Amino acid sequence: MPALLDALRRLTPRHKRALKNWGRRLLGVDFVTVPESRSSLWPYELHTTSARRFLHFRELLLQLEDVEGQIVECGVGPGRSLFVFAILTQCVARPRRIVGFDTFEGLPEPTAEDGRGNAHKAGWLSHSEANVRELLQFNGVASDFIDENISFVRGTLAESLPAYDGRAIALLHLDVDLYESYKTALDWLWPFVSPGGIVTFDEYRSEAFPGATRAIDEFLDRWQLGAVKSRFLDRWYVVKERPESAKR
Ligand SMILES: C[S@@+](CC[C@H](N)C(=O)[O-])C[C@H]1O[C@@H](n2cnc3c(N)ncnc32)[C@H](O)[C@@H]1O
Repeated sequence: MPALLDALRRLTPRHKRALKNWGRRLLGVDFVTVPESRSSLWPYELHTTSARRFLHFRELLLQLEDVEGQIVECGVGPGRSLFVFAILTQCVARPRRIVGFDTFEGLPEPTAEDGRGNAHKAGWLSHSEANVRELLQFNGVASDFIDENISFVRGTLAESLPAYDGRAIALLHLDVDLYESYKTALDWLWPFVSPGGIVTFDEYRSEAFPGATRAIDEFLDRWQLGAVKSRFLDRWYVVKERPESAKR
């Protein structure tokens, strides 16, 4: 049995998908894949989505060159998007402080708004802060850069965001999957987004995350905003309006 479990763990994503489909057809059962079940250190993958997401973030950060503020991310996970921000702020965009909020213990309990597909996901995507630091370093981000430029804030967003220090935000990246998480992040952080600043969503209009879409739609309605689709991939963002005087 341990050997079988070990073999299953080492299957590539393509083989896991094939096995899952085969199981579905043959046995009429569904399997729940636990994400991120790999060794604690691995190279961040480069595939079409991650490459296009890199281009998306690059374009947004270049668009923000005249906007003051830090980069804030809610939903650090293993640190793939933090890694991109670290590279971009060293190579093509102006340097900025980067702050990552997460439980560092995985997803909190989903609610009814998140739908059946997410109902069992509490604790998924669990990466400790130490593991995120190790992963960033393993992928080539210098430990000095991390110490000097990246801060991690631990806890659920409901616990940590009420104590947000009020620093201006140029780019807010939300990648928190769930209704309550999106709602909390938008309620607390939108007031700190600078005029001309951007909020970009990882899960908007994704069928897999109905709660995220609902929370974002409620936010857009409340503030009368229109979301813009990235020209690189299926990701959406909003730009905070600048005062009339700043547009001239
Ligand atoms: C999909 S992962 C983030 C992936 C990451 N941005 C990347 O590119 O690698 C979602 C993360 O959101 C965090 N999260 C979701 N809801 C949260 C909440 N209410 N408070 C704190 N963290 C939350 C989870 O712990 C998880 O690490």
